[in-house]
Amino acid sequence: MFGSIKNYQQDSNVVSVDFDQGQVKIEVITPSIINFFAQLTGDNPNSKAVENLHIQPGAVETRMFDGKVEIVSEKLRILVSDDFTVDIYDLDGKLLCADYRGEDHPFIRRGGGQGLELAEQEGHKFDSEKDAQAFKIKKQIFGDTYFYGLGDRTGHLNKHGYRYKLWNTDDPNPHVESFETLYKTIPFFIALNDDTAYGIFLDNTYQSIFDFGKENSDYYYFSAAGGNLDYYFIYGPTVRQTVGGYTYLTGRTPLPQLWTLGYQQSRWSYTPEKRLRQVAQTFRKEQIPCDALHLDIDYMDGFRVFTWDKNKFPDPPKLISDLKKDGFKLVTIIDPGVKKDRNYPIFRQGLKNNYFITDHDGVPYVNRVWPGDALYPDFSAPQVRKWWGRNLRILLDQGVAGIWNDMNEPASFNGPINDDTQFNNDGHVADHREMHNAYGHLMAKATYEGIKAETGKRPFIITRAAYAGTQKYSTVWTGDNQSIWEHLRMALPMLMNLGLSGIGFAGTDVGGFGFDCTPELLARWTQVGAFTPLFRNHSSIFTRDQEPWAFGKKTEAIVKKYIQMRYRLLPYLYDLFYQGQSNGLAPIRPLLVNYQNDHNVYQTNDEFMCGDNLLIAPVVEQGRISRLIYLPKGDDWVDFWTNEIHEGGQYVVKNAPLDICPIYVKAGSFLPLYPVQNYVGEKKIDQLTLDVFSFSDDGTNGYRHYHDDGQTFDFQKGIYDLYDFIQEKTGKHLKIKIGYLRNEYQPAYQSFKFVLRGIHPTKITVDGREISDDDWHRGKDDRIVVDKGTQEIDIDLS
Ligand code: NOJ
Repeated sequence: MFGSIKNYQQDSNVVSVDFDQGQVKIEVITPSIINFFAQLTGDNPNSKAVENLHIQPGAVETRMFDGKVEIVSEKLRILVSDDFTVDIYDLDGKLLCADYRGEDHPFIRRGGGQGLELAEQEGHKFDSEKDAQAFKIKKQIFGDTYFYGLGDRTGHLNKHGYRYKLWNTDDPNPHVESFETLYKTIPFFIALNDDTAYGIFLDNTYQSIFDFGKENSDYYYFSAAGGNLDYYFIYGPTVRQTVGGYTYLTGRTPLPQLWTLGYQQSRWSYTPEKRLRQVAQTFRKEQIPCDALHLDIDYMDGFRVFTWDKNKFPDPPKLISDLKKDGFKLVTIIDPGVKKDRNYPIFRQGLKNNYFITDHDGVPYVNRVWPGDALYPDFSAPQVRKWWGRNLRILLDQGVAGIWNDMNEPASFNGPINDDTQFNNDGHVADHREMHNAYGHLMAKATYEGIKAETGKRPFIITRAAYAGTQKYSTVWTGDNQSIWEHLRMALPMLMNLGLSGIGFAGTDVGGFGFDCTPELLARWTQVGAFTPLFRNHSSIFTRDQEPWAFGKKTEAIVKKYIQMRYRLLPYLYDLFYQGQSNGLAPIRPLLVNYQNDHNVYQTNDEFMCGDNLLIAPVVEQGRISRLIYLPKGDDWVDFWTNEIHEGGQYVVKNAPLDICPIYVKAGSFLPLYPVQNYVGEKKIDQLTLDVFSFSDDGTNGYRHYHDDGQTFDFQKGIYDLYDFIQEKTGKHLKIKIGYLRNEYQPAYQSFKFVLRGIHPTKITVDGREISDDDWHRGKDDRIVVDKGTQEIDIDLS
């Protein structure tokens, strides 16, 4: 497509290479991140994902030899050859990534005669593999390469052998492994081979295809239907570093408000108001913690966004303030479709100001969603984002605490939106083919900016559709799953791949959305939800009730136990968000992120890490009451329920009756915990509990804990506390040190309680003084309480 190389020029970190047909640019963003760019369509490169990019390339050296251009950064050596083929090496000469030079070579598919037509008449669907391709980049597959990422695709953690189409799609059929499209477009994946990882991010919003060796096992490819060839190579060599590099480009999940990590209850739809109040009261009566209730589409007047149905909800501010007194926040759904209705001010404003997408001739484009005929706000125009943000005031002023964005693929009931509909695209007019996949992302951006401007607090938004970088604005959920075991099983790889794709704050509909949940499924799903950043039970209209108490006392007790456990774990989860701001890692991650040296975990679908310290191995099969668990090499693991220690690098069998979710804590960990509360803020927390899990042999490990107001942006002014807890085990002695790194937030903790899990002390001294009996509580796990300011605790062990 490009022909032979003619020459090249270097302008600091940017190398332009001239070919017989066209010029390309190779930009060294950091020594490990390289952008490859060729302008194919004449459009302005107007990235939706990469904003305020900070370039720090280090030294870049370029030369030409044997007709190739060689570019060397401080980490990588890149060889560009004719036809813009690219090979990338590390500085030890290891070939990391190489373009595939052969012809397309699809595996054989057989069939003929009338077969296809007849089979399609019966309803069968076949892969066409014929989507339009403006370009197709093929790269060699070396040996056992594992592929991860691409957001929340169905199927397994490792995507090798599968193909996906990135075109945001609302398909309410049960999501199964053969689904090629879903709601989100995150054109980023990680390739892991021979202990070395790299990532590729194709920054292109058109429909794209990612084929990881399905067409042929010698190569993988990515292609797009239009736009520019614009991709980034992100070197690891660890998966952790690769995710760090990707989120360096596209942004990191910001610190959320603490209450958003609490339990949330939703349903399509809690209506009328009386029903919502009843749900709220039952939570408090049953003492089941809950922070947020969600209102689905039926709270609106005829599905008109930014309105209330006054028959069902006569006085929203009063309702919201009553709920607030009981510690509940209200989250309301807002879809993009604006009802076509001359008596409706939002429609009139949008029409008057040309805020809606138009057809090719500039006439506002109409399709159909919940309110009937509806128009689509053009979120790609800055003035529309502002307008939308200002409209949010209507809800926020009444006390609404979070916004749930749905149907923003955007969905359309009256056939697909026309390809040639027009979008402003920040002044570079574009059509639907280019803007479709960015629509939900831009709606989330408008919503984020609106809430931030209005409330000054950290915005809480949930979106169904997303593009690369949506993590900066919104949490996501995986859309319309079903109450089937297969979907609980699939929730794990989906969430892990979302995390590897930069989306830290994510969840699934706990209990399943469509179909009827069962008591056992709700119990097991809640056990997974308790460790999932977004912990929301949601179900569809016309399905059975699915609240924690819906299936009787036995199920309720199990569900309550895990919701309460979630509230105890809040400081740990919050710390993971704090860490995520600098490392880009999601709280939920596959084991390979922590144990890349252990090849046994490269395809672990049914266990996950929650941060660095917790390994969760939930039961995701109906009827199972025990399971096999792999504990990765390199650490010892403490059974959370029994304190039993297991060496890593082996399989263990764990009894897991319905009330037990197998949890293992890395030996040498601290686990920060809060008391159980019915909602965040119910109790004044002046003591932090730290469960201490020690080493079986000698060892040292630390834990950093972050504490702030959990709501505002004051932390950006430095108003927070930071503690280091360190444990050093030598022989029969355990020393715990407390470091006070920052001390700016009030009210601060007054004391720390250490719960010594399976540790049996004979003598304890605190800063050199023997501890009094008042502060040493002996029991199954001894507990000691020390004042803030304490520096060192010395524990002699039996
Ligand atoms: C589709 C969403 O995925 C679902 O969560 C919601 O309940 C319905 N739309 C109705 O708004």
